Amino acid sequence: MRIPENKIEEIRSAVNIVDIIAEFVNLRKRGQNFLGLCPFHNEKTPSFTVSEEKQIFHCFGCHAGGNVFKFLMDYEKISFVEAVKSVAERLGIQIEYENQAGTEKQSEQEMLYDVNEIAMKYFSDILLTKEEGETGRKYFQQRKIKNQTIREFNLGYAPYKRDAFVEYAKNRIDLEKAMQLGLIGRGKEGNLFDKFSGRIIFPIDSPNGRVVGFGGRILEKNEYAAKYLNSPESIIYTKGKLLYGLSHAKDEIRRLNKVIMVEGYMDLISLYQNGIKNVVAVSGTALTEDQVVLLSRYSKNVVLLFDADIAGVKASMRSIEILLKKDFEIRIVSLPKGEDPDSYVNQFGKEKFDELVKQAVSFHEYQTALYEAEGYFTDSARSAEAIRNLVKSLSLISDELKRNFYIKSISKRFGIRENLLESELDKLLVKDVKQETPAKDSFRSNKVFPNKEIKITQEIQFLERDIILLFLTGSPDIIKFVFSHINPEEFLIELNRKIAELIYEEFNKKGSFEVAAVIDTIEDEEVKDYLQLLSIDQYSLSSSWEKLYPKQDNSSVLSKVCMDTMKKFKSLQMDNQIKDILSQVQNVSSEEEGRELLHILDQYQADKKRLNEEFN
Ligand code: UTP
Ligand code: MN
Repeated sequence: MRIPENKIEEIRSAVNIVDIIAEFVNLRKRGQNFLGLCPFHNEKTPSFTVSEEKQIFHCFGCHAGGNVFKFLMDYEKISFVEAVKSVAERLGIQIEYENQAGTEKQSEQEMLYDVNEIAMKYFSDILLTKEEGETGRKYFQQRKIKNQTIREFNLGYAPYKRDAFVEYAKNRIDLEKAMQLGLIGRGKEGNLFDKFSGRIIFPIDSPNGRVVGFGGRILEKNEYAAKYLNSPESIIYTKGKLLYGLSHAKDEIRRLNKVIMVEGYMDLISLYQNGIKNVVAVSGTALTEDQVVLLSRYSKNVVLLFDADIAGVKASMRSIEILLKKDFEIRIVSLPKGEDPDSYVNQFGKEKFDELVKQAVSFHEYQTALYEAEGYFTDSARSAEAIRNLVKSLSLISDELKRNFYIKSISKRFGIRENLLESELDKLLVKDVKQETPAKDSFRSNKVFPNKEIKITQEIQFLERDIILLFLTGSPDIIKFVFSHINPEEFLIELNRKIAELIYEEFNKKGSFEVAAVIDTIEDEEVKDYLQLLSIDQYSLSSSWEKLYPKQDNSSVLSKVCMDTMKKFKSLQMDNQIKDILSQVQNVSSEEEGRELLHILDQYQADKKRLNEEFN
């Protein structure tokens, strides 16, 4: 069953988000917005903002945000359909349901969550209260896990019996769903059996704390079975998009602005139990970009715990690369040989562990020390290899100043000329650019000049932001006007480009654009967050517009600002193109190429003149 799309829209536009949120949160008017203490994280000074104009909420502290339905879903821990119903009830709007394919999706998800919830309670009940749970209890005792921790993480135990869960589940849930979720399997003779039997259970949460899957550890070593069994992916569980423990750790990560990344379930749980709560676990899979983006909402300072050898570093290189590219500040801690965070903290305690983390070094220092320890610099061939690898890691850092700093330090330490290192670095950087931007080109003719990197100046940043703000006014005239002059691909900053594309699509589909209508469908957290921020923040253009054009009515101010912004944007774009051509003119290899370039240059200059006329 499903509520028709236009009905959802009708309900959303009929309600005032401020009224709904005010039922739960004390809101005070501040400027155009309403402000209160965020219900989604602990705070003493309010950073939870509700925009009546845009009909969305946004927390500057924890980045929670969305439209009225999202608020109810998160606050009351209810499904989307329930949230829509609840608003409709308040307004006295009748909902008629439609029954159609593709419509099952919403409730299908809810059903899967329910099955996992039931399974989680079953496993945890066995562990905490049932006789069959004794083996599990002993195991946790031996691993020094307390009951309070077991409760906090809803840990469980699946009894060592082939079909205990099947028996329990058969009158309670749809077994097909349990199979889909990998809780139950079907044998050759069609018999159903428990997948997790004889294992201790780690429920895996989404960042909102809903159970999406399980990890199950075998108790004794067994050649024939994997040590850990993990739930398969499903419509509610994508492995590369979650981090184990994040729902527990997120507040502390934010508070300390630092996250410790470990590998295993037990590592996370032991650290947490010992009071180190800003931890997430990657749990078996390789770190993905999605996970890093998810994490960046909470903090960009990450501490990695490493086995102390070069093989360990090599294995982690891919993760480090992803983190560096997303501008994370990485610190590395090396653990004594043979220890993992769980064994270390249980043996030496929290204080020793904290000390270890305090001694964390930058990735560059860590790598250098390792090569040194392994004797690389005593031999010239291996020394060259080591230095090349050091420079290679530097090429992953996007901050030029930081790179420069490390180049200096390598140069000093190993007595190598800086410019030699720089040219080595440049080679790697160029390769990087080539690999990553396959000729994305917004110029009108890409025959003659290649995609030369344009420097993103502050002016470009402001202009692009202003154009997005123009979209956010929701005025169809303005949006149409802007898109008749620039394509979404013309935005130079990727984030803005994504937003422009999204608005373009929505506007083409509906002929209108409203943030509150799309905000909850955006999957890219960065895009969503930035859109919320721009929608709600007071630095929005309007105030400066009013200063620029006092005493005029809103729409004529708006169209003036629009013309002005567009003109600046276009003119800057052309200047860049002209500059680019001019620099190429200096390096032409043939007369013909030179003529062609000059011809294009003429065209641009003519365009620019026309532009001045058009926008005046
Ligand atoms: P480890 O083998 O280091 O286990 O795997 P661990 O976390 O230290 O567990 P204990 O202390 O022996 O109980 C690290 C992580 O890799 C994943 C799990 O997430 C595990 O926590 N893993 C490991 C699997 O997914 N499957 C496996 O078969 C093994
Ligand atoms: Mn371990």
